[in-house]
Amino acid sequence: MSKVFVCDHPLIQHKLTYIRDKNTTTKDFRELVDEVATLMAYEITRDIPLESVEVETPVQKAESKIISGRMLGLIPILRAGLGMVDGILKLLPAAKVGHVGLYRDPDTLQPVEYYVKLPTDVQERELIVIDPMLATGGSANAAIDLLKKRNCTQIKLMCLIAAPEGIRAVQEAHPDVDIYVAAVDEYLNDHGYIVPGLGDAGDRLFGTK
Ligand code: PRP
Ligand code: URA
Repeated sequence: MSKVFVCDHPLIQHKLTYIRDKNTTTKDFRELVDEVATLMAYEITRDIPLESVEVETPVQKAESKIISGRMLGLIPILRAGLGMVDGILKLLPAAKVGHVGLYRDPDTLQPVEYYVKLPTDVQERELIVIDPMLATGGSANAAIDLLKKRNCTQIKLMCLIAAPEGIRAVQEAHPDVDIYVAAVDEYLNDHGYIVPGLGDAGDRLFGTK
C-alpha cells in the first residue's frame, strides 16, 4: 500500500489558507502555489540518498555529503500542474520535465488525454507527477498508467489538496506510488469538486474564469 505524506509544515499550511481564499488574486494565487511547490519539494526529497565526498575547507580536508547522482523527472499534468513546476525546479534544477495533457470530461469526470511529451530517457528517471488537485483520482491514475506503459517504475505523486476518494483510487490502482499532499479535504461534491478545496485550480492559476 502506498504511503500518504501530509506536508504539515506551518509555512505550507499558512500559504495554503491564502490559496484556498476565493478573494486571492490570480497573481497572488500563482505566486503562492509556486512557493508551496518549493516547500513541498523540500519534503518530497527528504529520502534521496547522499554520498560522501572529500572537500577542502579553508581550515582542513573534511568528509562531507552530496546528493548521489539521481536522475529526476517532473511530470506536470496540464494545465494546473504547470503552476508547480518552477517552484520545484528551484530546488531540483537538473530535473527534466515531461508534460501530460489531460482534462476531465465535465459530465463523466473521466480524464481525456490530449498531449504527451516526455524525456526520451523517462524510464530511467525517478518521477514526480504533479497536479494541485487529486479529486476522483482519474487524472493522476491516467498519468501514472501512461508512465508505467513506458516502463517507468519509480513514481511519486505530489498534490496540494486531495479528496479521500482520490487517495483511495490511487492507492488501489498504484500501491507502489507514494502520495505527498499539503491537505486532505472532506469529500467530493456532485460536480467532482473537492470540498472545501480551492475551486478550479486551472482557472484560478490562469485567470480563465
Ligand atoms: C483538474 C486538476 C486535475 C483534475 C483532478 O484538471 O488539475 O488534473 O482536475 O480531478 P480528478 O482527480 O477527478 O481527475 P482539469 O480537468 O480541470 O483540467 P485543467 O487543469 O486543464 O483545468
Ligand atoms: N479539479 C479542480 O481544479 N478542482 C477540484 O476541486 C477538483 C478537480
